[in-house]
Amino acid sequence: MEKKVNEVASVARDGFTSKFGIIAAAAGSAIGLGNIWKFPYIVGQNGGAAFIIIYLVCIALIGAPVMLSEFLVGRRGQKNAVGSYKKLAPNTPWFINGWMGIVAAFMILSFYGVVAGWTVFYVVKMLTNSFAALSPEEIGGMFGSFITGTASDGSFGQWWHPIMYQILFMIVTAGVILGGVKNGIEKYSKILMPLLLLIIIILDIKAMTLPGAMAGVEFLFKPNWAALEVSSVLDALGHAFFSLSLGMGTMITYGSYISKKENLGVTSIQVTIADTLIALLAGLAIFPAVFAFGVAPAEGPGLVFATLPNVFNAMGGIGQIFGVMFFVLLSVAALTSSISILEVVVAYLVEEMNLERKKATIYSAIIITISGILCSLSLGPWTTTFPVLEISETGMFTQYGYFDFIDKISANFLLPIGGLAISTFVGWKMRKEDVMDELSNSGLLKVSYYVVFEILAKYVAPIGILIVFLYNLGIIKL
Ligand code: TRP
Repeated sequence: MEKKVNEVASVARDGFTSKFGIIAAAAGSAIGLGNIWKFPYIVGQNGGAAFIIIYLVCIALIGAPVMLSEFLVGRRGQKNAVGSYKKLAPNTPWFINGWMGIVAAFMILSFYGVVAGWTVFYVVKMLTNSFAALSPEEIGGMFGSFITGTASDGSFGQWWHPIMYQILFMIVTAGVILGGVKNGIEKYSKILMPLLLLIIIILDIKAMTLPGAMAGVEFLFKPNWAALEVSSVLDALGHAFFSLSLGMGTMITYGSYISKKENLGVTSIQVTIADTLIALLAGLAIFPAVFAFGVAPAEGPGLVFATLPNVFNAMGGIGQIFGVMFFVLLSVAALTSSISILEVVVAYLVEEMNLERKKATIYSAIIITISGILCSLSLGPWTTTFPVLEISETGMFTQYGYFDFIDKISANFLLPIGGLAISTFVGWKMRKEDVMDELSNSGLLKVSYYVVFEILAKYVAPIGILIVFLYNLGIIKL
């Protein structure tokens, strides 16, 4: 019977079968640019240690139970995000939550592909040793010109340059979804992800022994609560969802591929811990270097790209080798995440809209790439701004360019709302016996953590998310 369930799942989803080692897949989805690119730069923008503490609270009290809820719904529903809701709660509007996830997936992958393209470009830069002998200012300037497409005459004549790399990355992402997932990615990630961890640890050591590095360590560990803004709390929550791949159905979709023998509770804790550890270690590699080389901590999306080449330079001859390896591995980490985003869309189109897998992949990849091109252009020539609900001294809304706009809308709104919905679904809508049956693999496992999970999914996660929203609106003050 058990075998049959999995066979059915793998027939419906050729190319992404239940054989895919699920922990590697889920961790591969969670660990990506969110940990190494986004986490350090939003920590920098939000003043350091105090933000990290709030982030960790969000991970433990909201992220972990939401991840388990998604796995649970996916494995019980045996379908994509929309289909699993429909199956577990037929004739109710819960599946709308699945749709919202599809929208979020389009948004997130459009800018994700752009940043992943930058990492591919940095592989080339490291291979050609282009940063050697450049000052920190010059390295920062080079990054700025690249992502904005600024040519040497000051025009945006090079706008196509980052887009070229973005398109390349999106083609590989679509290619993996079309064919290579079954045998390739899992095997590679099992070797490559520990290697990435190893390189980050080496970078940690190098960064922390740079002159002036301690200011960076202090920035990461000594909280300055005064530096925290109201919007920081929503940023922390939004990033907890982004980093753990939650709130849009990735973990529902992956949950549907998890074998009935796997312990869902243990898996979700392992993935959560691995993801958080990598983010913290990345911060520890970057901030000491930020301070040692005089990069501005609040510099934004360029932080990692403007900082790490200095560390490689400081390593001497072997720095180039480390640099190449680092950016190759970061590109792979980005790939295992981007396929998990595209898979949400494709699984939906195939199972709910009866589209052929090939067509579903190609169409959605093209639309996402076009939106991504707009993201890239919004960093340079395209200056239109869009309002995001974010209270500041100047009013209720803050204006952002397209790139930041879809980043904020998806991470800070769509994902937490998705998380609110799924924890409410598991905590209040599903029958307790069904939840228990799924968590215990039909009675085979002891679920000693059940009470804790119930309190978190039923009360702490939904209420926590609501409080953060109300706080962000200025309706409640903490
Ligand atoms: N978590 C990934 C990262 O940190 C990105 C990602 C993959 C994601 N799947 C997702 C983000 C689903 C939100 C939702 O890089």
